[in-house]
Amino acid sequence: MSASITREDWGSASGPVDRYLLDNGAGLRAAVLTHGGVLQSLEVPDRTGATANVVLGFDRLQGYLDNPGPYFGALIGRYGNRIAQGRFELDGTTYQLPINNGPSSLHGGASGFDQRLWSATTVDEALELRLVSPDGDQGYPGALSVTVRYSVTVDNALRIDYEATTDAPTVVNLTNHSYFNLAGEGSGDIYDHRLRINATHFTPVDADLIPTGDFHPVARTPMDFREPVAVGERIRTGDAQLAHAGGYDHNWMLDGPSGELSPAAHVTEPTSGRTLTVSTTQPGLQFYSGNFLDGTITGTSGRLYRQGDGLALETQHYPDSPNQPAFPSTVLRPGETHRSTTVFQFGVSAT
Ligand code: GLA
Repeated sequence: MSASITREDWGSASGPVDRYLLDNGAGLRAAVLTHGGVLQSLEVPDRTGATANVVLGFDRLQGYLDNPGPYFGALIGRYGNRIAQGRFELDGTTYQLPINNGPSSLHGGASGFDQRLWSATTVDEALELRLVSPDGDQGYPGALSVTVRYSVTVDNALRIDYEATTDAPTVVNLTNHSYFNLAGEGSGDIYDHRLRINATHFTPVDADLIPTGDFHPVARTPMDFREPVAVGERIRTGDAQLAHAGGYDHNWMLDGPSGELSPAAHVTEPTSGRTLTVSTTQPGLQFYSGNFLDGTITGTSGRLYRQGDGLALETQHYPDSPNQPAFPSTVLRPGETHRSTTVFQFGVSAT
């Protein structure tokens, strides 16, 4: 069987919403919504060949409309993660963004790209989503034109390519906010998933989860994932750095060469044998252990999502980069094209 893309109606938000099914013909099936560019479902095989949906979400559009807070599967923009005080300065002008998370602006503001209706076309066996964010949208300068391309490959990978251009200087940090559970969505917590992160440093944060500006070695900290560690191992021991975030919600500075596609993280789930390798061109990885899930949301297969029932591996620039001169720049100027790629490669392990 070869790859295929099909479209179906999926209700209506600010306009009719479509769901696109990307089938690689070899066991991987991704479902993507034009609402928020949401990766709504992702079926991949386990070591016996049985498929399960490995991302958290909802079975109806209404679920996404009623519960934007967890950003399940959504495209995030204009700025993934937090900007301190919702404020930054660019070329001598100070911009104030709406505050929507404690004292910060999170994930592009109260009406981020996760809630927009994207236009879709299929190009060369990929699904191409487009959005134009007008000048001043959520406080950000410049009209930003964004293209995000989802594609699946025969070796069970989901690839996401991002592109953006602007007509005035601005900042941009795009990502996808999928929560994975390799044992299957709704099957319980991810604390036994074993995680490796290709990073020797992370960016420590203050009480509001804003980076202090330091680059801290992971060695001898609970952030050391250079060798595989069960996600729950140090959360369960009540480490103070993790306790204040309720688990992991931190940014790792990836060792791979920024701008080149290189391995960022590897996850294995012992029971199903499913594995996930995340590769990216981005300099950072926000690993979030689903801390704010609290058992009040019913997911795709009708089960409640509790704390730790999914983990997000958000490839992106570091949080609050517009206020941190030592961090890789997120500034985009007219004439430049912002580009990044992330690949989620699935497999199985024998043991
Ligand atoms: C990111 C943030 C978290 C949280 C989630 C969504 O991972 O870092 O603090 O906001 O998004 O709930």
